[in-house]
Amino acid sequence: MNQVIGSGINRKDGRAKVTGTATYAAEHQIPGLVHGYLVTASIAHGQITNIDTQTAEQASGVIAVFTHNNRPQICKPTNNFMASKIYEARLPLSDNQIHYAGQIIGLVVADTFEQARHAAHLVKVEYATQEPIVVAKNGTFQEAISMFGQKMQFEKGNCATGMTDAIAKIEATYITSTEMHAAMEPHAIIAHWQDADTLTIYEPSQWVIGSQRTYAELFGLPAEKVRIITPFIGGAFGCKAFPWPHAILCTAAARQLQYPLKLVLSRRQVTANAGHRSETEQKIRLGANGDGSLTAIEHTAKSCTSPVDVFAEPCTGITSAMYAAPNLGIEQEIAVMNVGTPTFMRAPGENPGMWALESAMDELAWELKIDPVELRLKNETKEHQHQCLPFSAKHFAECLRVGAEQFGWQDRPQQVRSLTRDGKLIGWGMAASTFPAFRGSASVTVRLLADSTAEILTSGNDMGTGAYTVVAATAAEGLGLPVEQIRVKLGDSLLPNGGMAGGSQMSATLVPAVMAACKEVLKTAQATTAQEAFAALRESGEATLEATASAAPGGEGKKWAFQSWGAHFCEVGIDEEIGRLQVTRWVSVMNIGQVINAKTAASQIRGAVIMGIGHALMEECHFDPNIGYPVVYDFATYHFPTHADIPRIQVTFVGEPDLNFNPAGVRGVGEIGITGVSAAIANAIYHATGKRIRDLPITPDKLL
Ligand code: MOS
Repeated sequence: MNQVIGSGINRKDGRAKVTGTATYAAEHQIPGLVHGYLVTASIAHGQITNIDTQTAEQASGVIAVFTHNNRPQICKPTNNFMASKIYEARLPLSDNQIHYAGQIIGLVVADTFEQARHAAHLVKVEYATQEPIVVAKNGTFQEAISMFGQKMQFEKGNCATGMTDAIAKIEATYITSTEMHAAMEPHAIIAHWQDADTLTIYEPSQWVIGSQRTYAELFGLPAEKVRIITPFIGGAFGCKAFPWPHAILCTAAARQLQYPLKLVLSRRQVTANAGHRSETEQKIRLGANGDGSLTAIEHTAKSCTSPVDVFAEPCTGITSAMYAAPNLGIEQEIAVMNVGTPTFMRAPGENPGMWALESAMDELAWELKIDPVELRLKNETKEHQHQCLPFSAKHFAECLRVGAEQFGWQDRPQQVRSLTRDGKLIGWGMAASTFPAFRGSASVTVRLLADSTAEILTSGNDMGTGAYTVVAATAAEGLGLPVEQIRVKLGDSLLPNGGMAGGSQMSATLVPAVMAACKEVLKTAQATTAQEAFAALRESGEATLEATASAAPGGEGKKWAFQSWGAHFCEVGIDEEIGRLQVTRWVSVMNIGQVINAKTAASQIRGAVIMGIGHALMEECHFDPNIGYPVVYDFATYHFPTHADIPRIQVTFVGEPDLNFNPAGVRGVGEIGITGVSAAIANAIYHATGKRIRDLPITPDKLL
């Protein structure tokens, strides 16, 4: 035993990233490459009545201009979630209809990027405009039926009765703003057709095997004729799992022209065209007995979608997992707006959902004069109330207790406005965290080389989360080798199917398969250690020895609900005169099953807390009521935290391996850290100021 698993090893890809040798999609060098630039709609709703491409076509270096009048050939994919999903059901350039500002209405291809961009601005478009809906309150809300087969309405008991019987009641509405993924790497693609039927794509993809299938369907090819290459992703957070219209159009144009074609979106195009998290409005009603035990939880959520696809931000998914209540009801509503299609963004649903629920729990704690940690301990549920299954390896109470202890929560004064320091009001707040545990199936090849190194090969992606490092740590353990002797290759659809980097499932998917493949290769070598295998390899004169193994979930999901848990504790300092708020202290305690690499796992939680601080205090987007464009369009106009906004974030993991879930006991750690962060901050603000803010982001004007 090496004892690598659980220790804190350095990022395998760290050096490549900081020295600039990690190759991102747009950086691949393809001979003969030409460049595309998008033409986008300047109105939010209406029709194109005329589109004149003549001047653009004659501009210097221009190879072709595509519009709905000469759309390159694209087939309609099945578009099922796990089959061949595209982010927008409407294919690019389908017709002359405009559904949102920034919608793609053309593509210019030229010898250079500058020529393409220049010519794109020479395309003359005339529109017949219609009144767009770009403000949620003008939308028509309807019941949201389902998200990927999961029902969004649920009731057990009778909430009305539960509320009538309650001694203490909370009813409040919580708001979140439209948010942008704001990944460092903008969306980009190089589509390279080797011939009319053989395609290689370089694109940031969280799921190369899924993309391979989708592009195959889009272009009427067998999957093996398509190769997706994504060794590195510069941030994704959910907006790089499936092809967006720009990528589909680029690939179609490249096929028709038979040139390798590169298309990089501007920040503004990313903002309008490549997903966002919808704004939400959530109503929570809580009823409780005098001792704090809940009698009813009601949670209704509203979010918005685009005219060309349905994505209902699933805020109520967490509600029946968090706290036990005899009466519990959830509902989701959705309205169509003339905006781009919203999509998955780190803890989709769980993050805004926990903002509302954990704010309401704090309000109830004050109402009942019960400590908010005690209130949560009191109402812990042993089973998932919607799935009707017991939770496996749940250590939520431990997260609360250890967090309270580390933070010094017992010293918290029970009155608002009672702590001050250096002329500032100080507040302490806490909130719970949760995220379901998912797992996919994966195959992994382990190859031993005569030079005493090992290669681990699988298609699964590292979107910056640490998958390279987690795979290396697991293989080091499984083979009994130093981590330096392990090389990991990821993110290529030619490699064995490694599943999807989404839903925080990459570790739970890959780690059991890596373990199995390590065992398999030693068995093949008839060796008990890698050293023995290397010796045998050298003796035989063979260069390599390899084995492939797979791992997949079984029937455990019928017996158990798998979910991760946590608690955040924070301190804020507020200068009320100028509305300035500083987060000054942070403690997070998480229960995620087996931690594979302590360093990257803690880093995932820190990143998520930082993103949560942005969600709580800064991140905001509205759509211009006149032209329908997002009013933010780059990293200067879209505010998110910088170093100066972030305190030291203390992260601790508790619990045990969740061996009911998989042989490694790992549940994953990508998303959970953001959940509850904004509520912990708003709860601390209430403690500091006595002001309950239910509308995110909490900008200085709301604190004055
Ligand atoms: Mo994540 S929002 O499942 O990429």
